[in-house]
Amino acid sequence: MDVLIIGSGGREHAIAKKLSESGRVERLYCAPGNGGIAELCECAAIKATDIEGIIAFAREKRVGMVVVAPDDPLALGMVDRLGEAGILAFGPTKAAAEIESSKAFSKKLMSDYGIPTAEYGVFSGIDEAVSYIRAKGAPIVVKADGLALGKGVSVCFDIESAEKAARDMMEGGVFGASGRRVVIEEMLEGPEVTVLCFTDGETIVPMPASQDHKRAFDKNRGPNTGGMGAVSPVAAYTDDIAKACMDRIFIPTIRAMKAEGRPFRGVIYFGLMLTKDGPKVIEYNARFGDPEAQAVLSLLESDLLTVFEAVCGGSLAELEIKWKPGAACGVVLASGGYPGGYETGKRIDGIEDANRLNDTFVFHSGTRREPDGYYTCGGRVLCVTSTGETLDEAIESAYRAADLIHFDNMFRRNDIGRAF
Ligand code: AMP
Ligand code: GLY
Repeated sequence: MDVLIIGSGGREHAIAKKLSESGRVERLYCAPGNGGIAELCECAAIKATDIEGIIAFAREKRVGMVVVAPDDPLALGMVDRLGEAGILAFGPTKAAAEIESSKAFSKKLMSDYGIPTAEYGVFSGIDEAVSYIRAKGAPIVVKADGLALGKGVSVCFDIESAEKAARDMMEGGVFGASGRRVVIEEMLEGPEVTVLCFTDGETIVPMPASQDHKRAFDKNRGPNTGGMGAVSPVAAYTDDIAKACMDRIFIPTIRAMKAEGRPFRGVIYFGLMLTKDGPKVIEYNARFGDPEAQAVLSLLESDLLTVFEAVCGGSLAELEIKWKPGAACGVVLASGGYPGGYETGKRIDGIEDANRLNDTFVFHSGTRREPDGYYTCGGRVLCVTSTGETLDEAIESAYRAADLIHFDNMFRRNDIGRAF
């Protein structure tokens, strides 16, 4: 089968790599892709949000499946539109993707169906928001309702900064339309874990747990980013906790979405806080996480195309998904200044040397290929990912490989897998 992947980051590179290892995939395409993805896929310069352009390209190439990986096209309804055009698409419909694209929707879903999450209020007026903040007191968390590149959340330790965050979002327009409505919620404490699951709307199959590192700098300091590195599995996510999550969170969520007439097919991302009162949902995403996908898919033994087909076809219950033993660690190499402003166009050295190391692969997030090599073109540039028998081994290998790579103003965290 020929497959088209939508997106241009490390996550899409990880999906492309895994699909390229499938004996069942013939041609791989990606729109728009990046420098690394271009080694595995024929890349088409079509924006990930250009639904008409993607449909035309998928028709022209007669692809058997389109994998919609990023949040924006999912929220725009790309999967629905591909379906209407008679093209098989992997990913949730627009209605199902609202579990990520509207925090107000996901919070109401959890409260209606008794799924554990932080206590909250939703506000469209600044006066009500401020009253709620003053009534609840600090610490308190202010979130833009819509999509904001993983940056729409302010964890505030005093009332003044919470009020400022609400004003910036609701009046200052810092996240545009995404921030006109805000969710304000109780601060949760405990280890944070990501569990990605495959689901066909009925059956839900968790992947090994993973842990993102959202803060820009070591010791979880600095601003929130899209994610500076990830490990999988996570020691704090014990078998008992996994069972509690399955019974109280994963299955109830899938049943709730079905009951709401929004059956979810695709990858659902559970951002969990393991609090002293048990696991609670911090956020849902309607897709693989980035950089979690790079770590988790490195551990997948089964054929990814077969899994995607079972998700689309509703036959996940009949499939056994196999994982490699051991652990994976991905370290992001970013452009100096990210998640704020940064320069691009820096030449990258050492990718081939790093790729030559055992059990290591350099996923590209923001690169472009020129005749004389790779250049940076994004905030997150690469995600150097290694597997090992133990997490320690995976971490050591990933850093040994990352040490071989250089570009001007490069920065990374040095404590991926050791910060919590
Ligand atoms: P989100 O975009 O919802 O994943 O939020 C980004 C990050 O903010 C999360 O990964 C958490 O580290 C933090 N966060 C979000 N909500 C809460 C909360 N209720 N309590 C504590 N931290 C939170
Ligand atoms: N790593 C977090 C996300 O993809 O949203």
